[in-house]
Amino acid sequence: MKMKRFYIHTIGCQMNVSDSSKLCGLLSSLGYSPASETGDADLVVVNTCTIRAKARQKAMSLVGRLAARKRSDPGLTICVSGCVAQEEGEGIIRMFPEVDIVLGTAALERMPVHLRRIEAGGGPVVDTDMTAGGDFDLITGPVTGVSHFVTIMRGCDNFCTYCVVPYVRGREFSRPPSRIVEEIRSLVARGVREVTLLGQNVNSYGKDKNGCSFARLLGMVNEIEGLLRIRFTTSHPKDLSPGLVDAFRNLDRLCSHIHLPVQSGSDRILERMNRKYTREEYLEKLETLRSAREGIALSSDIIVGFPGESERDFQQTLDLVRQVEFDSIFAFIYSDRPLAPASKFSDKVDEDEKRRRINTLLSLQNSISRRKNIEFEGRVIEVLVEGKSGRSGNGAALQWTGRDTTNRVVNFTVPGDCPGGAAVRPGCLAQVRIEAGLAHSLKGRAVAIADAFANVAVA
Ligand code: 5AD
Ligand code: SF4
Repeated sequence: MKMKRFYIHTIGCQMNVSDSSKLCGLLSSLGYSPASETGDADLVVVNTCTIRAKARQKAMSLVGRLAARKRSDPGLTICVSGCVAQEEGEGIIRMFPEVDIVLGTAALERMPVHLRRIEAGGGPVVDTDMTAGGDFDLITGPVTGVSHFVTIMRGCDNFCTYCVVPYVRGREFSRPPSRIVEEIRSLVARGVREVTLLGQNVNSYGKDKNGCSFARLLGMVNEIEGLLRIRFTTSHPKDLSPGLVDAFRNLDRLCSHIHLPVQSGSDRILERMNRKYTREEYLEKLETLRSAREGIALSSDIIVGFPGESERDFQQTLDLVRQVEFDSIFAFIYSDRPLAPASKFSDKVDEDEKRRRINTLLSLQNSISRRKNIEFEGRVIEVLVEGKSGRSGNGAALQWTGRDTTNRVVNFTVPGDCPGGAAVRPGCLAQVRIEAGLAHSLKGRAVAIADAFANVAVA
């Protein structure tokens, strides 16, 4: 019998990327093989996002195209998973009766049961049950690079008024620390050198029940032999504890970067967003972080055009951005989400005005990011090599790519006389002299390469 092929189309955040990778592992264990494009696949999964209206629209138009294909290719199986699946459930089948499986955010591990039903000729399945339990995080996706996401918690209890996440991802649930440590040990044995601990709000890790704080978990991960770097995302400023600040002081493998979304620089808007901190408290937390770890890079999410945001509120956001000098930001135009309370707020900001505000914010941040990147010129920094990034021109030297501790992308060449250069490969640590600070990356030349695999016992 011909082996069935699958294709997963992923939209949205790192949690979706990680879930898709696990789903890939699960489908492979069922005997499916990956297809290189949708057109070659017998099973297509659209792993969806609904954080903003645009993401939902993108997902649904993709599902619409697949539904059209199925009318002339009835052998195709279509699965819609992720946050739109959770939010709209049956509604997806009503819109597109060609869809076979609607797989909610807590139903991923039940994919094999649903697939069997479809293969046996059963009708469409909608599984948005959030209470059934099961641990999808026991599944590891293919380990392809030196860097890997590790889910430590799911869900969110914060209910920021603009955000749909608590409704589609449910309440906070932390995985036991022993399972996390075990998973990272096995990843290291398979060549992983950097992990990003993943959750909607990692610094409230353990608060739901297991008694191990996020700072303590970081301490345990820091002890894993062979692991070079630890990152985490995302954090809520209100839960940034003194223990986490100490972790930046004491843990040598914890990277010098924190993504700490501020969302707005105006206290009035922060309150309407239900963020539970003030601008001043946020700034104080950054100060303690900066004194605990010199040179720590800061990044943030910022929403412009939240209902009721006046020009004055927006100016306060710009002022905060100028004051903090983030290394980078993700800026978003506020988007109504029907399940989130802010969609019912009056005094919505005009669309053109929102666009003007985001452009102003982005151009301010671009000049800050560029200036900060230029400050790196002439310095030698350590880069974890992730792979080749191609050649910059005909006959030009091969470029390698990786990231430094602050999460900057660094593209570099390895000159013939570079010590250790002949053995360069993903997973090595390169000392790179920076020659140019660009808008979103750094460019340089390696001065030494060390093989990070040396002295690591591989199980
Ligand atoms: N509109 C715009 N941006 C949003 N975000 C979350 N919900 C919305 C929304 N309704 C942004 C926040 C969050 C990031 C992941 O997405 O900034 O931190
Ligand atoms: Fe959404 Fe707020 Fe939870 Fe982040 S902390 S996922 S913005 S509700």
